[in-house]
Amino acid sequence: METAPLNTATNSKLKAFFIEQLQDIYWAERKFVKKLPKLADAATTQQLKDALANHLSQTKTHVERLEKVFALIGEKAEAKKCPAMAGIFEEGEDIVDETDEGSAQRDVGIVFAAQKAEHYEIATYGGLAQLAKTLGYGEAKDLLGQTLEEEKGADLLLTQIAESGINYQASREKE
Ligand SMILES: [Fe+2]
Ligand SMILES: [Fe+2]
Repeated sequence: METAPLNTATNSKLKAFFIEQLQDIYWAERKFVKKLPKLADAATTQQLKDALANHLSQTKTHVERLEKVFALIGEKAEAKKCPAMAGIFEEGEDIVDETDEGSAQRDVGIVFAAQKAEHYEIATYGGLAQLAKTLGYGEAKDLLGQTLEEEKGADLLLTQIAESGINYQASREKE
């Protein structure tokens, strides 16, 4: 287990930034654990409900991995509100409010909201994994990289769901 950076010349401001970004995504993941069941309930098709439920269990693992990363670098796991993800979650709630229950249009909207969240996560984990490498936190880099791959997988699945029928169904839906 690596507890100290290999690079002794490491800039402490860079490490502080790394920790801040970890706190940001830790807040977002924990919030996502609360939001995903609501999105799954609101979704129309079983396919989308299943995908969101599956991502909920992955997201719980992402929270645990972040706690491991904090421990690996000798920091307490702390969450700092992420305004960007808070906005994305809010947008998701608005979409549910503005669409009819049981409509394909609602699923189109939920996929949009969920993919925006996934892309934010992909950007953050991609950056964090690279920084962990730079800072010499090999084990943390592996953990962050595992989550990164799962976020990419979730994003791809959402694209497939959109393309497999809900977008088309929504285009044929009565107004
Ligand atoms: Fe995640
Ligand atoms: Fe995710």
